[in-house]
Amino acid sequence: MPLLQAATAVRENAYAPYSRFKVGAAIRSASGAIFAGCNVENVAYPEGTCAEAGAIAAMVAAGETVIAEVLVIADSPSPVPPCGGCRQKIAEFAPQDARVTLCTTDGVSRTMTVADLLPGVFSAAHMDRA
Ligand code: THU
Repeated sequence: MPLLQAATAVRENAYAPYSRFKVGAAIRSASGAIFAGCNVENVAYPEGTCAEAGAIAAMVAAGETVIAEVLVIADSPSPVPPCGGCRQKIAEFAPQDARVTLCTTDGVSRTMTVADLLPGVFSAAHMDRA
């Protein structure tokens, strides 16, 4: 599966000297292209970025803005869930029914939708009276 391969490969490049928790993310965009990202930490901890944010940045930098599917992988005891901020970042570019697959490096996975991941998402429609 190309998304799993891409996320697994990019995870090797994660820069995570502080948490030692390497994460890989891969996105299939609406065009069918695949974009990958890994977490990039910083000694000033809040400046670190998540794998999902890296994959989204790569997609947008390539001129695409629609996520069709996402896969995230880490060496965790259960399939790694995106943090709250990344859920909102994914929701910015993905339809509510887009598939999100969470994986462990030892082969356990869980698939859900963007709506499952972030129920009650804040969207542009909430600013209609502004
Ligand atoms: N992290 C991600 O990159 N994505 C996730 O879905 C969860 C957490 C990163 C952030 C930080 O570099 C490390 O994992 C520990 O929180």
